[in-house]
Amino acid sequence: MIEMRLEEKQREIVERTIAYLKENYSDECSGHDYWHTLRVYQMATDLAEKEDADLFVVRMAALLHDVDDRKLSPETHDELANAVAFMNDNEVAKDDREKVCEIIREVSYRGKDSTAPASIEGKCVQDADRLDALGAIGIARIFAFGGSNRRPIYDPYIAPIEAMSEEEYVASPTTSVNHFYEKIFHLKSMMNTESARKLAEEREAFMKNYLQQFFNEWKGEQ
Ligand code: NI
Repeated sequence: MIEMRLEEKQREIVERTIAYLKENYSDECSGHDYWHTLRVYQMATDLAEKEDADLFVVRMAALLHDVDDRKLSPETHDELANAVAFMNDNEVAKDDREKVCEIIREVSYRGKDSTAPASIEGKCVQDADRLDALGAIGIARIFAFGGSNRRPIYDPYIAPIEAMSEEEYVASPTTSVNHFYEKIFHLKSMMNTESARKLAEEREAFMKNYLQQFFNEWKGEQ
């Protein structure tokens, strides 16, 4: 009976979180919008079911993983401010709150300085976030992100920098096409779960075909 009530309460909190994101992040244009978060939430839930992870923690971490990202909230200096405030207001249990915060800290991409999360819950959320950077949606997000950061689509005179550190990743001038090589094609080997790795393989192959076509059409200096 107590179990049931807890589940019910958690379901309500998840629904309120989705409503909060829809309200605040729907018109974001750099590829980290409400729909990105919702896809990560759905994918993380699928992975968590396969991996037998704690569904509530996975769902909350997936939903809140970008709310303090500097891309979305440049005014926040605390990497967890919005997530913590939201969870406090919505009475998420202390233990769960701490687990969610830990995951949010772990999932973000820091070039070759990235960390693999310690918990299976964190692994599911990180894989789900990375899968959304791959495939057809990944391509759309790369160019949206590039445009919003005033990056050119492609420049044959700017070579990609392989194995970037976090500092280089944030600071280097680059192009959207280089971003495939600098970040996206490293993701497959960084997946934590087997099912995510399989999906990553398919999505990466699709992107490589796309780039093949892109370069075939490019008539300038190669
Ligand atoms: Ni994300």
